[in-house]
Amino acid sequence: MKNYYKDEHIAKRVKELVSKLSVEEKIGQLMQLTYVQTGREASLEWIEKRFAGSFLHVYGDNAKELQEAALKSGAKIPIIFGIDAVRGHAIHHGATIFPSQLGMSCSWNEDLIEKSGRVTAKEVAADNLHWTFSPILCIGRDLRWGRIDETFGEDPFLIGELGKAIIKGYQGEDLSKADSIAACAKHYIAYGESTGGRDAYDSQISIRKVREVFLEPFRKAVEAGCATFMTGYQSIDGVPATANKRILREILKNELDFNGFVVTDWNNTGNLIEMQRAAKDVFESSKITIEAGNDMIMNTPEFYEVAVEMVKSGEIPIEFIDEAVSRILGVKFALGLFDGRAEIELSSKSDIFACKDHMKVNLDITRESIVLLKNENSVLPINKKNIKKIAVIGPNADDARAMFGDWTYFTHPLPNEEIEADKHVVTPFDGIKEKAQYFGMEVTYSKGCEVMSESDEYIDVAIKNAKAADIIIAIIGDCKDQTGEFYDRADLNISGGQPRLISELKKCGKPLVVCMLSGKPLAVSKQVEESDAFIQLFSPGQMGGTALAEILFGEINPSGKLTISFPYHTGQLPVYYNQLSGWHSKKYFDQPDGPLFCFGEGFSYTKINYSALKVSKQVCTKDDVITISVDVSNLGDYDAKEVIQLYVDDKISSIVTPVKELKGFKKVFIGVGETRTVVFELKISELRIVNSNEEYIVESGEFTIMVGSNSRDEALLKTDVTVIEQE
Ligand code: GLC
Repeated sequence: MKNYYKDEHIAKRVKELVSKLSVEEKIGQLMQLTYVQTGREASLEWIEKRFAGSFLHVYGDNAKELQEAALKSGAKIPIIFGIDAVRGHAIHHGATIFPSQLGMSCSWNEDLIEKSGRVTAKEVAADNLHWTFSPILCIGRDLRWGRIDETFGEDPFLIGELGKAIIKGYQGEDLSKADSIAACAKHYIAYGESTGGRDAYDSQISIRKVREVFLEPFRKAVEAGCATFMTGYQSIDGVPATANKRILREILKNELDFNGFVVTDWNNTGNLIEMQRAAKDVFESSKITIEAGNDMIMNTPEFYEVAVEMVKSGEIPIEFIDEAVSRILGVKFALGLFDGRAEIELSSKSDIFACKDHMKVNLDITRESIVLLKNENSVLPINKKNIKKIAVIGPNADDARAMFGDWTYFTHPLPNEEIEADKHVVTPFDGIKEKAQYFGMEVTYSKGCEVMSESDEYIDVAIKNAKAADIIIAIIGDCKDQTGEFYDRADLNISGGQPRLISELKKCGKPLVVCMLSGKPLAVSKQVEESDAFIQLFSPGQMGGTALAEILFGEINPSGKLTISFPYHTGQLPVYYNQLSGWHSKKYFDQPDGPLFCFGEGFSYTKINYSALKVSKQVCTKDDVITISVDVSNLGDYDAKEVIQLYVDDKISSIVTPVKELKGFKKVFIGVGETRTVVFELKISELRIVNSNEEYIVESGEFTIMVGSNSRDEALLKTDVTVIEQE
C-alpha cells in the first residue's frame, strides 16, 4: 500500500503547490492529450496556454521537447508521460517484446513476470516516459471478446497474484528511481464481462458479483501500491464505469483506501454522451466524470474549457478538483519528477533496448509460456535418429505479425502495414531451421493456406512437402484482424483454409504436430483430433520461434499450463472452470461435457505423480491458518517444472458459489526420480464469500481441499475440512 498524496513527505509539498495554482492550472493537470492526434504545435500550445499535465503515446526526443516546454510554463509542473507498454515497450520498434499477458500467464511464474515488468520499466524509462497503462486485470471469461489476449486468463486469484508481480516489476522498490515507472491497474472494473463479449458494452452484473469475482485482483493491486487505475469503457448494470461513484469513490477510494489517481479510458467523458447516452452534453458529462471520482481525463480536450467555466460558476465544487490535482501531483512527486527526474537526459537507446540481458528474460518467460496439450505416441520431442526431413507448414509459420497480436509497433499508436519486423523476431520456421541444422536435418517451408481466406493457392506445395518429409510441423492460428481491441469474434472456429490444410496434412500419414499461434483459445477440437501432438502459443513475442524449437527438439521440457479454458464450440461459452453449481442437464445435448482443454491443463515430456495429500487440521475456525501438504514425484526421463494447484470447494453456502476456486499455486523444479513435498498455507479467512447483503463472511460447514496438476476433478487429490463457529 502506498499513500502517495497522503504520504507524510509528499502531502506538504502537494498542499503548498495546489494552494498556488489558478483554476486553469489545476484543470490543466487533469488533462491527458494524445500526441498523435493533437500534433506537435497544438501539444506545445496545450502546455504553454492550458498547462496540460500529461501526454500519451509520445516518446524520445518529442517527449523531451514537451517536457522542456512544461518546465518553462505556468507553475512549471513536469508532465507525466504514459504509454501502453503492456508486453514490453512494444510500441517502440526495436525494444523487447514479450509474449502477451495471456501468454506470460501460462508460465504461472511470478518471478519471471516480475522480471518482465522490470525490463519493460527500464526500456520505457529510457525513452523519458514515466507510466505504463498496465497491467490489465480484466478477467477473460467470454472468449468472443477481442481483448482476451491482454488478460492474465480466467481466474481472479491468479490474475491478482500475477498483477502484483508485474506491478512490483514496473514500480521497483522506489518509484522515484530513474528506471521505475508508475503502473496502471485497468480496466476498472469488470470491463471484460461485457455481455456477449461485446467490447465497451454493458456488464450485466450486480455490485455483489463485482465484489465476488472482479474486485480481488484490483484489491491486490492497491495493496501492491499500484500508482494509478484506469476506468473501463463499459457500463455495469447500466451505470457507466466512469460515472460510477459506487465503484470509484465508495469502494476504490474509501473502502480500499487507494491514494494514487484514476485516469479515464480514451475519451470516456465524451463517450458518456455519444456512445452511452448517459449525458446530454459535455457540461453534464464533465460534471458526472469529476463527481464520480475520476482524476485525469484521457483525450477529451473539450473538458478543459467546460471544467474551468463550471468550477468558476460553482457547478463543479473546487474541492473535487483539488482532490484530483492532489492525487495526480502526489504520483508526480513520488516519481521524482520535481526532484530532477524530469530533466534527465535520454539514455543511449542502443545499449538498453532488447539488450542481451533483457532478451534472456524474454526467452526464459517465452519457454515457460508454451503449453503442450497433446503428445500421442511420444511423437515429441523430435526423434533425432529417424527424422531427417521436417516440413514446416502453415500461415503462422513465418509471419512476425502472427507472433505479436496487439499493442506493438505494428498496431500502435496507429496501425502500420508498412513497418518491417524488428531484427530480434524469431519465427517458428526460423527457430526450427536454426535448430535442425545441428542434427543434419533438412527443413522445408510452405505457407499452406491463408488464415482468413479459403484460397487454395498454397495447398499443393504444402502437401508435396509434407509427403516428402518424415514429420510435419503445422503452424496455424489467428491474425491481427481477428483479435485485439475492436476485434470481438462471434465464431471461434479456426478460419480460412486452415481446417482443410490440417485435414489434408493428416491424410499424408506422417507424424503431425500442430502448433497454434493465436491471441486466444479457438474451437479447435477437430484439429486436435487430427494431430498427434498439439502445442499452444498465445502471441509468443519475439522469441517464440526459438522457444518452440527448443521444446520440439527436447532441449526444454514444456512447463506451461493454461490459464484459460478452450471450448469445443463457441456456443458452449462461458466455459471457465470456476462455474457456479447447478445445471439440470450438466451439458449441452449437442456438445461433449466440459471444455476441450481446461484451466491449469498442460503436459510435459515426463510423468508427474501426486500422492499423500494431508491437512494440518480437519476441523478449524475462521481465524485458523492450516497447512496442506502433498508429495509430487517425477517418474519420467526429463527434469520438470510442475505447477501444483490448490483448489477449494465451499460445499454448502448461503449463496450459490463456484464448484471450485483456485486458492494457491506453486511452480517447483522436480528432477528425474525426485519426490518433493510441497506445502501450502491456507488462511481460512480466504474461504470467505460475498453474501446477498454484500458482506464478506466465512460460513461454517464443509470445504473440500483439492490439489493436483489441473482443474479437472480426475486430476485432483481431495480431502475435507470442517469450519466451525468460534467457541
Ligand atoms: C485504449 C485502451 C486502453 C489504453 C488506452 C490508451 O483504447 O482501451 O487499454 O490504455 O486506450 O492507449
